[in-house]
Amino acid sequence: MLWPVTTTTTAEGHLAVGGVDLVALAQEYGTPLYVYDEATLRERCQSYHDAFAAHYPDHEIVYAGKAYLSPALLAILVEEGLGLDVVSGGELALALRCGFPPARIVFHGNNKSGEELRAALDAGVGRIVVDNLRELERLIALATAADERMAVLLRLNPGVEAHTHEYRQTGVVDSKFGLPTIDDQAERAVARALDAPALDLLGYHAHVGSQIFDLEPYAREVDALCRFAAAMRDRHGFVPREVSPGGGFAIPYTPEEDRDAASVDDLAWQIGEAFRAATARHGLPLPHLTIEPGRSIVGPAGVALYTVGAVKEIPGVRRYVSVDGGMADNIRPALYGAEYTAAVANRMGPAEGPAERVTIAGKFCESGDVLIRDIDLPPLAPGDTLAVPAAGAYCLAMASNYNLAYRPAVVFVRDGAAHLVRRRETLDDLLRCEILPAR
Ligand code: LLP
Repeated sequence: MLWPVTTTTTAEGHLAVGGVDLVALAQEYGTPLYVYDEATLRERCQSYHDAFAAHYPDHEIVYAGKAYLSPALLAILVEEGLGLDVVSGGELALALRCGFPPARIVFHGNNKSGEELRAALDAGVGRIVVDNLRELERLIALATAADERMAVLLRLNPGVEAHTHEYRQTGVVDSKFGLPTIDDQAERAVARALDAPALDLLGYHAHVGSQIFDLEPYAREVDALCRFAAAMRDRHGFVPREVSPGGGFAIPYTPEEDRDAASVDDLAWQIGEAFRAATARHGLPLPHLTIEPGRSIVGPAGVALYTVGAVKEIPGVRRYVSVDGGMADNIRPALYGAEYTAAVANRMGPAEGPAERVTIAGKFCESGDVLIRDIDLPPLAPGDTLAVPAAGAYCLAMASNYNLAYRPAVVFVRDGAAHLVRRRETLDDLLRCEILPAR
């Protein structure tokens, strides 16, 4: 699914989402503007529930908040019955402030501070996923001092390679995440956690990467987790009650990717089969499963809107069309070489002429600030509204104030109505943390 499920074209030839004309939205709220379709967000949550209910009934869907987090989204996640994976004190504090049930929160991170661990304990989060031996000792000390018993999963580094960008691989042996299983670090953690009355060791976690199209690495990951679990059962008598293979399921960003993308049902089937095969092979009971999708929940629900400005033809070389956003609101093309597609939201009617091959550039002071290289679009003119689909994940979440850009406004649309859920930043927002020199 490349565009939100409610995407249509109006009689005027404008692109609409959630029954709302995107060109009118761009005029009302200005651009860059991020638009989320509530129907798509709910459909994505529901498709995870349905698929795992069919293929692995004893499961929990835990949304990875790093992909995009806001009060408006949290309200929907609560209603849709999802859990929340947080990776920082900030994400945890926001979730708690918004009334997200602490028991449904899973706390992650490879270098949690003492303050963050204490906040997670105080909040009564459902689980802490322990990344390393130092953290394990700190958590034991803090939980013991607070006279609390904390449920934990141990994050393992299973040495599984997923076919994705190197920056997004997390399960390879050479990774900063998790307890290596190639030496005795993971085993020492198991023994220590079992030995600590302040901890309730539930089981294991791993995450092999993000934007994973090929589902086969999940099977290898699940097998590696179960192999390790069987060894620990044999040596320490511990059988995991819960196992999480993480998140990372890909979404299509371009029409080509959209044609052969696997569905959430394919993913649930693959993971269910992998667990049934691996537990049978290693003589383990089927554990409670937690799955942590981020991108595949919010990505397809988001559309970024930009306004076309300067159009520059370099004869025989390239036609640059610059828009009013770029790497400050979407760093992904510059960081990962991520590819996007786009539509001209105000020219969706019958083609007025042949398409033109253009390169969509951002407005930031870097040559690498290019959103889309070589795309065929209807001839663009200043003032046109460009809509980029699949922009709901890791765009706003990774946005910056580079060049002192004001971070964009965000609108949620539903049933023909638009709700502003975040206003555009202003100079006052940029100055909020500055300490002005005394005159
Ligand atoms: N669980 C853990 C432990 C993770 O580290 C992540 C993502 C997820 C779940 C969710 O993965 P997802 O389903 O969203 O792929 N900034 C990169 C992606 C970084 C992913 C980090 N971890 C991007 O824009 O492609």
